[in-house]
Amino acid sequence: MCGIVGYTGYREAYPVVIKGLKRLEYRGYDSAGVALLNGGLKVYKKQGRVAELEEFIVGKDLHSHIGIGHTRWATHGEPSDRNAHPHTSAKGKLAMIHNGIIENYAQIKKELLNKGYLFTSDTDTEVLLNFIEDIKVNNECNLEEAVRIALKRISGAYCILLIDESDPETIIAARKGSPLVIGVGKGEHFLGSDASPMLEYTKEVVYVNDYELAIVRPDELILKNLGNEKITPFVTKLDMELAAIEKGGYDHFMLKEIFEQPSSIHDCLRGRLDASAGTITMSGIEQNIEAFKSASRIIIVACGTSWHAGLVAEYIIEELCRIPVEVEYASEFRYRNPVVNKGDIIIAISQSGETADTLVAIERAKEQGAIIFGIVNAVGSSIARISNGGAYTHAGPEIGVASTKAFTGQLAVLTMMALKIAKKKSSITDERYTQLLFELEAVPEKVDALLKNAGKIKAIAEKYKDATDALFLGRGYNFPIALEGALKLKEISYIHAEGYPAAEMKHGPIALVTDTLPVVFVATKDSYHEKIVSNIQEIKARKGLVIAIITEGDEVIAALANDVFFVPPADEMIAPMLSCVPLQLLSYYMGITRGVDVDKPRNLAKSVTVE
Ligand code: G6P
Repeated sequence: MCGIVGYTGYREAYPVVIKGLKRLEYRGYDSAGVALLNGGLKVYKKQGRVAELEEFIVGKDLHSHIGIGHTRWATHGEPSDRNAHPHTSAKGKLAMIHNGIIENYAQIKKELLNKGYLFTSDTDTEVLLNFIEDIKVNNECNLEEAVRIALKRISGAYCILLIDESDPETIIAARKGSPLVIGVGKGEHFLGSDASPMLEYTKEVVYVNDYELAIVRPDELILKNLGNEKITPFVTKLDMELAAIEKGGYDHFMLKEIFEQPSSIHDCLRGRLDASAGTITMSGIEQNIEAFKSASRIIIVACGTSWHAGLVAEYIIEELCRIPVEVEYASEFRYRNPVVNKGDIIIAISQSGETADTLVAIERAKEQGAIIFGIVNAVGSSIARISNGGAYTHAGPEIGVASTKAFTGQLAVLTMMALKIAKKKSSITDERYTQLLFELEAVPEKVDALLKNAGKIKAIAEKYKDATDALFLGRGYNFPIALEGALKLKEISYIHAEGYPAAEMKHGPIALVTDTLPVVFVATKDSYHEKIVSNIQEIKARKGLVIAIITEGDEVIAALANDVFFVPPADEMIAPMLSCVPLQLLSYYMGITRGVDVDKPRNLAKSVTVE
């Protein structure tokens, strides 16, 4: 959601900025723009894709050694050229880009209107920019000082980058709640919402913290807090290669990421799980093991697909560790004055580590004395940094908007965590522990095996591509997978889909069943098998079209369903890591056959940095 890029140095800025914007396209956006400085400010912006901006810019004067660029996901004001960023201040001297929401913008706008300011857009960003310019002019101070004063007056979330005609080498940047990474080069600096825009130029980065302000020049990076005190920048070395953020021969990032799962799950388990030795090494858990052992409950907070991983974890942790687990939508949890006791453990699950609702939810819970444990994919992200402990999923960069490999990584980490805690609590038998360790170790190979049959799912997708609705049903460990399958399908193919516990289907959704409704059953062999066979019968009796994800050799369901996809046998606790994969493929192929831009579906954002 909103991508931010900046460059100051010896190179031509425009190619760096525009390439950076393409790298950030995955975040979700509806307009794009750049600002350059060459004599005066040059601002080019356009509704639509970065490619359209590039076309629009052909033939324009692009020479500049400093530049800022933005992809906007509309909040205040419709997607349009005039609402696109960068915005230019009323006096035309400053340009700014912004990711986030200024909550008290209306009050500030009123003050500025009373002073005679006119606005050319509907955005909160233009208000903040003119507010900064007003302070700069009235206080006769430099831009850095004006930004600092302005930020003390505003509430909300922001990452802002500003350039000033009168200081043509400097970018002023600040953040609160929205991410900012600064790449450190020799005689140059790069700025981005994540590290992807700077990956081919430098591996040395500084993750800027909330309430910090950066003064960035080609040879200098100064970090300060809002009290004007200098902070020593902490330089981190990126452990990421360029190939990880490129398509590598696949048509789409989503497909690449689905097919990467055998290796991404393997990377997640590597160095942690050793089934033969009977060990799981997770330092984040080890450091907090007493807290986990004595926890009277665990609260999992997350959004979207990560929330579904949390639901699977609820089943696993309660079963293995006998600790009560609650799974909460972060957006609800943060606002409903929840009961959080000292010693409660909050597990925050997030691919991006930047989801605004999840971030604020854990900040509040931390203030109330809870221990925060982060399960995050993006290394160095905000959630990872504010957590007391955690475990990375190590799935590598996930670019497709729909989360796939990060989800299976989350399931792998959560399962290892549960096993480790259960072992320490002695709430699991040695036999079961060993069996599950071997089961977990075998997952990458099994995912690899089922991916070899992706063509089968493609054929199913083509058969049902004209469906207008779909139902996804599952029980037990596969119930959250049914929810996830429905979410994926609606995100990627725009087909209306709902997920339900299979038995709950009788309390409403069954009214929708006709001979044109596809009903996807996630029904791998488990302790609910007989029950779900009955649920399939109930759908068949009403002429519903059954697509079943089942275990190899399951002749009972195979005989009942219209279409089946087989997954290798696995313990019911491990099965979700397999059964989710055909559903990812189903949504991908449905999206493709229906002509959807699957990596960037409409209105969706990869990293939801506003609440
Ligand atoms: C967005 C993404 C989803 C993701 C959700 C939570 O909606 O499109 O794929 O599951 O945010 O994001 P997080 O980064 O916190 O896992």
